[in-house]
Amino acid sequence: MDNAEKTRRELPTAAALDVARVLISEDEIAERVGVLARLIEADYRSSGKKLVLLGILKGSVVFMAELMKQLRLPVEIDFMKVSSYGGGTTSSGSVTILLDLKRNDISDCDILIVEDIIDSGRTLSYLVDYLKLKGAASVKTVTLLDKPSRRVVDFEPDYRGFEIPDEFVVGYGLDYDEKYRALPFVGVLKPEFCEK
Ligand code: PRP
Repeated sequence: MDNAEKTRRELPTAAALDVARVLISEDEIAERVGVLARLIEADYRSSGKKLVLLGILKGSVVFMAELMKQLRLPVEIDFMKVSSYGGGTTSSGSVTILLDLKRNDISDCDILIVEDIIDSGRTLSYLVDYLKLKGAASVKTVTLLDKPSRRVVDFEPDYRGFEIPDEFVVGYGLDYDEKYRALPFVGVLKPEFCEK
């Protein structure tokens, strides 16, 4: 039994037992976030603007907490909440802002949007354009997970933790029906717990 599997079995939460297998362990995530943090530091160190980590609620909160702890740069944090609907057979779909970013210093801010996962690409594609139009000094994106096989919009993040296959994953902020966000790893649910 590897460490990730041990974690799943030993967690004192029934939720962990709904997971069929651990896809990415807590240690693997922490290590990878360290690598991303070093890349981000190198890119922003001499910018002269305020670096704002902009978490997209709710899924990003666990990744964002780990990233801000590991960044050796002064950062501010902010949040937005959006909902995205697939537009049937169209690729654009629609994105609705449920909680907006309200800052009067946006032209002084390098915004780094923090996401837990990119799927169709609609949410981030929309948000990057939106924040540029709002006047941010710069807008980049970082995602913990990326499912490129699900893209309907042409979008590439600036920083990516892990590319994953098209499987339904939970944990480390990601939910199924609002459950499992607190699991400390990314796992694949047993089919009986995620039947549509
Ligand atoms: C997820 C994720 C992204 C979005 C990605 O959010 O956090 O915001 O979907 O999908 P896309 O690339 O197809 O646009 P979700 O709507 O599940 O909300 P949550 O973060 O509150 O769980």
